[in-house]
Amino acid sequence: NGIRVFDPAFLNTAAISSKITFIDGDRGFLMHRGYPIEQLAEKSDFLETAYLLIYGRLPDKKQDTTWRYEVMHHTEISEDVKKVIGSMRYDSHPMSVFVSAFAALGAFAPEANPALQGRNLYLENKDVMNKNIIRILGKAGTIAAASMRVRMNRPFIAPRSDYSYCENLLYMMDAQSEGENYRPDSRLVKALDTLFILHADHEMNCSTATMTHVGSSLVDPYSAIAAAAAALYGPLHGGANEAVIRMVEKIGSVDNVLPFLEKVKRKEELLFGFGHRVYRNTDPRSKIIREVADSVFEACGREPLIEVATALRDAALKDEFFVSRRLYPNVDFWSGLIYKALGFPLDFFPILFAVPRVAGWLAHWKQMLDHGNGKIWRPRQVYVGEGLRDYVPMEQRA
Ligand code: CMC
Repeated sequence: NGIRVFDPAFLNTAAISSKITFIDGDRGFLMHRGYPIEQLAEKSDFLETAYLLIYGRLPDKKQDTTWRYEVMHHTEISEDVKKVIGSMRYDSHPMSVFVSAFAALGAFAPEANPALQGRNLYLENKDVMNKNIIRILGKAGTIAAASMRVRMNRPFIAPRSDYSYCENLLYMMDAQSEGENYRPDSRLVKALDTLFILHADHEMNCSTATMTHVGSSLVDPYSAIAAAAAALYGPLHGGANEAVIRMVEKIGSVDNVLPFLEKVKRKEELLFGFGHRVYRNTDPRSKIIREVADSVFEACGREPLIEVATALRDAALKDEFFVSRRLYPNVDFWSGLIYKALGFPLDFFPILFAVPRVAGWLAHWKQMLDHGNGKIWRPRQVYVGEGLRDYVPMEQRA
């Protein structure tokens, strides 16, 4: 007890010390475990970056081979989970399917459930922790692809453990995989892999804070991942990439950009893909993503909405409203245009943020259990409601 600091929406509260990710919001700088994001995007790949985030170091050759083998050999999902996913309507939002499937995975993994196996399962047994990290990462892509197949009203496609993580993901979603030995275009695999590195972690964002908060109750990690994915689904967080495209489509043409910005300034609209709680200068990921966009447009053709999006960005960057509030394009401003060019349906975009972010969620969950003080997260509040009063029977209420 003692003095309480009132900090609505956690504008300034650090709840944990972390060795995973560092952001300098004023410089527009991001690094994971000491490695700048630019180097990882250029030289690493998603699974290696996931290992780095979770275990704190780049893997040596043997660790790398084992890690890739293990993750890619835990990509199958059980018939029970397939039934849960298959029972969803074809027009269910894929994020609802993703959240439900992870909650269901928990139900089908009693050996991973501290409520059944003992409260301190993950504090005491690091083998169980590592096994479930691998299972969750492996299955995330398969669940994502299955959510897409439900939407297409097509049968699920079994994973290929001999493909890379992103190659297998594209393979499982694509209609052409129904033919034999289909391999997705390597340029698109590379582009998706780079996007996955950029999305893999971003310190205490809303969904990672949720994973850590929920995990602090010592619940099983499947339930915590379902909660984190639900947090990511919202349009102010991972749903922003979908909202950006809906916004740009609504604007429709370069001529409508300035009138739209006037509405934003009157607070009638939000400029999706702009602004960030931590970056007050530039989001380093949005610079890299712009280059990825060019490589995707080369392979798939230029996305016509890019003209409107570019005009929108240029006009906002010159406008006093955005300049004075230090609002800049974030990662979601460009990622949606890439996903659109790649042919993904709009409502699938947040899934392409959630799957790589699973790596970050797991890294923070593990860090909290390995190094935390074992305390449940439980913020305090400032009560501003009614004072003490007597219950009023129905017939005496005004
Ligand atoms: N459009 C219009 N006005 C904005 C925007 C925006 N995108 N972002 C912030 N503002 C205004 C806000 O209304 C406030 O105005 P005022 O000072 O007049 O009250 C001012 O700018 C300062 O905003 P803030 O309070 O510092 O913003 P925040 O840290 O509470 O919220 C945010 C951060 C990302 C939720 C917000 O910028 C936003 O809603 N952006 C649009 C949604 C979006 O693109 N989300 C993706 C974020 S990046 C990926 C991720 O982490 O998910």
